[in-house]
Amino acid sequence: MINKNLMKGLFKFAGRHKYLTIAGMIFSAISAILSVVPIIMIWLCTAEVIDTWPNFQDATSIKTYAWMALIFSVISILVYFAALMCTHFAAFRIAKNMRIEALTHLMKLPLGYFNESGSGKLRRVIDESSGHTETYLAHQLPDLVGAMVTPIAVLILLFTFNWKMGLISIAPIIISFLFLFQMIGKDHAQNIKNYQTSLENMNNEAVEYVRGIPVVKTFGQSIFSFKKFYDTIIQYRDFAVTYTLRLRRPMSFYTLFINAIPIFLVLGSIFLISTSPTPKKFFVDFLFYVFFTPICFNMMNKIMWSSEESVKAEDALNRINEMLKKEPLKETGKAKLKGNFDISIKDVSFTYPNSNNKALSNISLEIPQGTTTALVGPSGGGKSTTAMLIARFFDVDSGSISIGGVDIRDVTEKDLMSNISFVFQDNHLFKASILENIMEGKPDATMEEVTYAIKAAHCEDIIAKFESGLSTVVGTKGVYLSGGEVQRIALARAILKDSPIILLDEATAFADPENEYEIQLALKELTKDKTVLVIAHRLSTIKNVSNIHVVSDGKLMESGNHRELLEKNCLYKSMWDEYQKAASWKLKEVI
Ligand SMILES: Nc1ncnc2c1ncn2[C@@H]1O[C@H](COP(=O)(O)OP(=O)(O)OP(=O)(O)O)[C@@H](O)[C@H]1O
Ligand SMILES: [Mg+2]
Repeated sequence: MINKNLMKGLFKFAGRHKYLTIAGMIFSAISAILSVVPIIMIWLCTAEVIDTWPNFQDATSIKTYAWMALIFSVISILVYFAALMCTHFAAFRIAKNMRIEALTHLMKLPLGYFNESGSGKLRRVIDESSGHTETYLAHQLPDLVGAMVTPIAVLILLFTFNWKMGLISIAPIIISFLFLFQMIGKDHAQNIKNYQTSLENMNNEAVEYVRGIPVVKTFGQSIFSFKKFYDTIIQYRDFAVTYTLRLRRPMSFYTLFINAIPIFLVLGSIFLISTSPTPKKFFVDFLFYVFFTPICFNMMNKIMWSSEESVKAEDALNRINEMLKKEPLKETGKAKLKGNFDISIKDVSFTYPNSNNKALSNISLEIPQGTTTALVGPSGGGKSTTAMLIARFFDVDSGSISIGGVDIRDVTEKDLMSNISFVFQDNHLFKASILENIMEGKPDATMEEVTYAIKAAHCEDIIAKFESGLSTVVGTKGVYLSGGEVQRIALARAILKDSPIILLDEATAFADPENEYEIQLALKELTKDKTVLVIAHRLSTIKNVSNIHVVSDGKLMESGNHRELLEKNCLYKSMWDEYQKAASWKLKEVI
């Protein structure tokens, strides 16, 4: 009934609020017992009225009973309030601790984890799961304790009063509960888990679907083009329908017997009436059962359904714990990065956690300090993966990556991140002012530094477009930035950060030639005297770079400068020819 594992798991987040939860449970139990008293009083009133009938003036105790009923009701409600105050206060604190712990842990997880787990899924785990446990602790738990205490008190009353009638009144309840048990079955917890998982999958795919709507619409596709979303809906439907159909029969019998309680009582009383000294006495006793049997049933019903809530809360707790179990990257912090920023990738192989194919196999390359090194190659070759491994989004499966001779696994994340700027293929701006977005690069930057970065990244024209200038909030109504503009803001952010290493994943397509020209100027400013790895899609931008590496299919195919690579007459040469062709087409289009 009260799930011990769940309580233990929840109390781990509770700290000293554990005692407040226990106090709440005790108050709720007291309130439940007190709430039985008014019903006994009302029954005593009725019994006295029947007893003295028709000489009602003899019913002298009625007033006392009525007052007692009122007083006990009020006390019971007040105690229940106290119980709820305790459990609410504790539940909010526990849910808060849970969210803080989950978010703090999330910050420690490898950045790659966020690529794997959709944002819909993460939001659901953190927010809804802690929400579930919050309602369980605040409401269901105290009610459950109350519901457990009441039937015990009532059962004792029912049996001490007249055990035969007690038995008859309890029989339909027991039979119906047997059906209920059958309905719930052993695999109940598993079913609830499956239900939550299919909801979670559907939720996640729905978020992805909404994100993809522009693509779906522009290509004139229907919802069915989003096969994954459609599949999760079908999975959910199949699960829900099969589960519901299985419950049909036990549910019908359960409802039948529960509603048959009055019939049992009437039939039982026909048999037992002869055993009572007077019909009047029997009628009064009978009323007692009419009063109390439904209470007993209601409470037991509450207990049964609360088991569902506790399974839900347990499942939510498991989901949070599963996330908390995800290992953060190990930080020995043995070494510090300073002075030397030569990047050396040695024999690195890597497979994404959710994939079977190697994204990189035995790659070795050097990125000497203070120079620009370029990675080029066909799409899906492993360029972005290489850059992400340098920033330790994931740990390599084998081989090593070092900066200035120090393995990146030996420095803290803070140290590594403060020395690297990553300009992504598709940059993300926060829903915050342009200024805040730029200052992400260096939160304590002075206004002069910010102005310099804006100028260097050629962002002045973007800011001049908006009335509120730097304090314009990106992503609000009417404030839209083009891909190229976003790229420039991201560059301003990186310039402000002024870190010695820059990983530059060039966007596949810049918006227009003017933007591209501005971006090239900004890049020049950013990469001055820095150790730079640039992933280039337009080969023209890296023609003058002396170290170019061609990566394809997760392997390093060839290296050299532009001229040397052309002479090799291999992959780079064919890419260059393709590129020239494409560029001349574009030129023709413009003409
Ligand atoms: N999050 C991920 N999970 C699983 N596999 C991935 C993930 N990201 C990339 N891959 C796979 O790893 C391989 C290398 O991908 P990567 O993104 O590094 O290519 P790329 O060279 O940057 O391509 P592009 O030029 O299109 O940006 C591809 O086969 C890709 O399918
Ligand atoms: Mg890429």
